[in-house]
Amino acid sequence: MTGLAGMGLAGGGIMRGRTSEAVNQSRFNLAQEIYDPEKQHVQHFNMSGFAAPKIETVRLGIIGLGSRGPSYVETMKKIEGVEIRALCDLRPEKAEAAKKRLENTDHNPDLYTGTADEWKKLCEREDLDLVIVTTPWYMHAEMAVYAMEQGKHVASEVPAAGTLKEAWQLVETAERTRKHCMMMENYAYMPFQLLTLNMARKGFFGEVVHCEGAYNTSKMKNNFSKTRYWNMWWLRQYGTRKGNIYPTHGLGPVAQVLNINRGDRFDFLVSVESKDFMMGARARELAATDSFYKEFAGMDYLGNMNVSIIKTVQGKTIMLQHDGTSPSPHNLIHGIYGTKGAAAFDPPPPKICKGDHVWASREEYERIREKYTPEIYRKMSALAKNSGHGGSDLVIHWHLIDCLRNGLPLDQDVYDAAAWSSIVPLTEWSVTHDSNSIKVPDFTAGAWKTNKPNMDINLERGGNTRIIV
Ligand SMILES: NC(=O)c1ccc[n+]([C@@H]2O[C@H](COP(=O)([O-])OP(=O)(O)OC[C@H]3O[C@@H](n4cnc5c(N)ncnc54)[C@H](O)[C@@H]3O)[C@@H](O)[C@H]2O)c1
Repeated sequence: MTGLAGMGLAGGGIMRGRTSEAVNQSRFNLAQEIYDPEKQHVQHFNMSGFAAPKIETVRLGIIGLGSRGPSYVETMKKIEGVEIRALCDLRPEKAEAAKKRLENTDHNPDLYTGTADEWKKLCEREDLDLVIVTTPWYMHAEMAVYAMEQGKHVASEVPAAGTLKEAWQLVETAERTRKHCMMMENYAYMPFQLLTLNMARKGFFGEVVHCEGAYNTSKMKNNFSKTRYWNMWWLRQYGTRKGNIYPTHGLGPVAQVLNINRGDRFDFLVSVESKDFMMGARARELAATDSFYKEFAGMDYLGNMNVSIIKTVQGKTIMLQHDGTSPSPHNLIHGIYGTKGAAAFDPPPPKICKGDHVWASREEYERIREKYTPEIYRKMSALAKNSGHGGSDLVIHWHLIDCLRNGLPLDQDVYDAAAWSSIVPLTEWSVTHDSNSIKVPDFTAGAWKTNKPNMDINLERGGNTRIIV
């Protein structure tokens, strides 16, 4: 580690092929921050398995009402014991449009809008229990930390942090304030992901040895749209960073299967990235006829395909991909390979192997699915049909509220938020250092050895919150 510290520092000076001094500087700072050999986290309090006192009516506020925020408004208004009291977006029209979705309901939220720090006032309100953060992800950690400091539980969209420093801040603040900080990794609640988690827990795969996950989906159209995202923020991220900047949809579900932070943890990773063959070219093509795109034409875009491999301390491996450009079909992979069986979600159809070297027939697949579908999905599947991301949005929102109302631990804790999000800066470091390996911090400070799985997919406790249809 100390040896690498020197390498990291020296690496800042020798990074190749970088055009922008500012980007060079930020990557140099990133290397310094990552290789801080002095960093010795002492756990104030173990947030794994932490249960806050019951909250009968969860009074909530939402910050960020672009595309993702309104889907929370839609699901939360259907859940018993929720009161949406405050909505915040920089843009008044977005805040007002979100409030309009609550017409003819009992919710009558106050609006916070117009300036970039109105969200602080929302966090400062005395009468909120939960703050949901759905702004661009590089803002999440600052908002989550501030909300916890104001005594609020936090549900943050993905990823929860963009730098290692932010990931540590989340951990340290949650432990000190004893407030939940859950990253809302909804892909862990998709039907096949829940099914395979239950199968893994029941031993179907034997010892799970290797997992694969991805978020491979073309963002070309959305990123270059002038109106899709506030201030072109996604394109700016692709134009200024390297590495896997959207790891958690692929990683979260397999991290649950592998009991990461609960019996195992990420040890180190390596990350390899192709060159950018598409975003830069598209930016230059658009800039030739439209001056709006001029500032994007000279950016040093993240490569088409990022491939990272993570090794765990128990000797397991995870292959993770991110491809935001190519016109191939949406692909999450979600592959699980064990000593007795295997499963893979993408490419479709989803497949299961009983260890006999063939994928099970559809009839057999259905029998296995019926046997292993966990209770949480059985209960929610009918109701979740019209909810986003294969129904996972309603399931995760409902279970978050149900756990808060019953005073139960949440399915994903602050250590998951930190570890899964840390892949963003760590892959960036690896990519910009000739794909060298880099250690993943132990955000649990050793508690991973005794922490127990807490994603209650069989609803052993709680589960009594109703959906209002
Ligand atoms: N889990 C999922 O399936 C999923 C899906 C989509 C997006 N996301 C995540 O949700 C987040 C939001 O994405 P999006 O697609 O809604 O982006 P968006 O650009 O549509 O919305 C972001 C909103 O944040 C607002 N905002 C910016 N600065 C603000 C500030 N200082 N105070 C208050 N509001 C501010 C903007 O006005 C905008 O309306 C991202 O982090 C993204 O990664 C997750």
